[in-house]
Amino acid sequence: MLAKKPPMGWNSWNTFGPKVNEQVVREAADKIIELGLKECGYEYVIIDDVWMLPERDENHRLVPNPETFPSGMKELADYVHSKGLKFGIYSCAGILTCAQLPSSFQFEFIDAQTFAEWGVDYLKYDFCYKPHSFSAHMLYNRISLALRSCGREILLNSCNWGVEDPETWARNTGIHIWRSTGDIEDNWNSIKDIFHKQYEKSCFGAPGCFNDMDMLVVGMNGEGHVGLGGCSTTEYKTHFSLWAMQCSPLIIGADISKLSDEHLAILKNKEIIAINQDEDARPPQMIADWTNKDKFTLVRMLSNNEYAIGIFNLSDDESTVVTSLFDVGLPFDSGLAFELHEVWENKEYGKVCDYLKFTLPAHDCKIFKAKVVKQ
Ligand code: GLA
Repeated sequence: MLAKKPPMGWNSWNTFGPKVNEQVVREAADKIIELGLKECGYEYVIIDDVWMLPERDENHRLVPNPETFPSGMKELADYVHSKGLKFGIYSCAGILTCAQLPSSFQFEFIDAQTFAEWGVDYLKYDFCYKPHSFSAHMLYNRISLALRSCGREILLNSCNWGVEDPETWARNTGIHIWRSTGDIEDNWNSIKDIFHKQYEKSCFGAPGCFNDMDMLVVGMNGEGHVGLGGCSTTEYKTHFSLWAMQCSPLIIGADISKLSDEHLAILKNKEIIAINQDEDARPPQMIADWTNKDKFTLVRMLSNNEYAIGIFNLSDDESTVVTSLFDVGLPFDSGLAFELHEVWENKEYGKVCDYLKFTLPAHDCKIFKAKVVKQ
């Protein structure tokens, strides 16, 4: 099964936008290995929009731009594969891509065949310039069937921003990850907005078909194509924690060669990644604070009867977040308690059997791994 767990990797768009080229893709693959990101689970190297020439060839096939991709896609895919990584590419359900280049509408079967010949493992399939008379469901069905009959296993990432309720048809269409909201920007408001907008959709994710909250902006520092403002290290930590708790794909969007040590450490936090990649892939329950929707606790049941508990303060002020363990199914008279280990601080918090109460700085969070033990 593809996407048994949320896919992890790197995508060119957030940093390089339309300036993507072969060199940055090769360098991303090199750095994923050099910096130990592959061992953490990052495996897909994905080229986003603006890799193709404005015209198809005489056989109606898409042609990589020879100025930016002189080796061609087969050779580039071979390079990525030689590192033990997987190769992803981009197209779109409409008549043009979002950057107005040739797209796959009415060429789905030719394009799937071309991608298979190049050695593509992952297709990000966007939604711009879609003819109004075709439903999203139908067009994603079509590319899905094209991929399933192309002779190669290719993961399908639908990027339709939540239009026409993809959570109701993504799974039956064969999509492996579906974007539920618009494009992320490298600033706190964008991160918060995405979380609030798609939270209620997270229950639709499960092995084989996950809700995608968009690529990560961790480590962009306000630079690159969507680097509009930048975030503090605390905000990047909270962003990564939210995506991990929500079972969203973890696709790095920063320039990997420019990551600072502290931002790299966020992306490499093995315990947070393990929560995201937990094989049960159960979505979190939200326990909201009574007073403010920016203060809440996310609780996920993990495999092996463990729990992940995320306490979040998305508000702009230092705040105290209180969570009754009663709401998590743990009455005091059960004789049981949660034994808490905080992942970011790598610190033990001992046993708790009544409530959690933490004062957090603005935009901060705590993520606990919890075991149910005797009081
Ligand atoms: C859309 C997508 C982005 C990116 C661009 C490329 O906006 O949502 O993730 O792929 O198109 O043009």
